[in-house]
Amino acid sequence: MLEIRKIYHYYDKAKALEEINLTVEEGSLDAVIGPNGAGKSTLLRVISRLEEPDRGKVIFLGERIDELEAYQIARKGIAHCPERRRLFYDMSVLENLEMGALSLKDKKKYHELLNFIFEIFPLLKERQKQRAGTLSGGEQQMLAIGRALMANPKLLLMDEPSLGLAPKVKTKIFEAIEKIKHEGTTTLLVEQDAVLAMAVSDNIHVLEEGKIEIRGTKEELEREPRIKKVYLGI
Ligand SMILES: Nc1ncnc2c1ncn2[C@@H]1O[C@H](COP(=O)(O)OP(=O)(O)OP(=O)(O)O)[C@@H](O)[C@H]1O
Ligand SMILES: [Mg+2]
Repeated sequence: MLEIRKIYHYYDKAKALEEINLTVEEGSLDAVIGPNGAGKSTLLRVISRLEEPDRGKVIFLGERIDELEAYQIARKGIAHCPERRRLFYDMSVLENLEMGALSLKDKKKYHELLNFIFEIFPLLKERQKQRAGTLSGGEQQMLAIGRALMANPKLLLMDEPSLGLAPKVKTKIFEAIEKIKHEGTTTLLVEQDAVLAMAVSDNIHVLEEGKIEIRGTKEELEREPRIKKVYLGI
């Protein structure tokens, strides 16, 4: 579904991404793990064209998209759930979800998506009228994921969904991510919590200092001594 070929990205002269190759198959849940500053957010921002790559290609459903504008990429069916959530804080929970569905014309689909989101995050159903800015961090994260899902994306990009959350809330978010996968939405997840990311993902790509040199399934990565030591602490 998604193919990234030899992507390079620089901020001024500082290299953030170097020769990144990455493929995500339809229906798959893939994770990019790596330390702070590795380039994980940059990679997602390049895919959704919030950053223009300096070199390389991004191909989505057989079509080159790295030359499109961000809004065109959203229309192609890629939703980006950014780091630190960026909700409409003065709007209610329901209004934020509606904003996610702005370009969705199908009323029936709208209700289906809303029901699915309320099923995976029952709390959002109870808090429909609450102002987004007054939600707790974990609740805001649920809403950010819900809003991205309301666009009915073919590919969901999620940047650090567990950032700053307590273990119990992290678990809830990751249970929801698994349900989203079972519904068939292809997902590329960026996550610092390697243990959680590896537990749910089909393939894991390890991004370090702008490069991906290790990747594989959970079982494959668990056999890598360095991954065990650095990411899994075993
Ligand atoms: N707008 C920018 N201008 C200049 N440098 C930037 C910019 N955005 C990111 N960088 C730099 O690019 C590198 C990669 O940043 P990025 O945000 O992609 O990392 P990350 O892996 O998402 O880190 P984190 O886990 O802390 O979110 C870092 O060195 C960062 O300082
Ligand atoms: Mg980041």
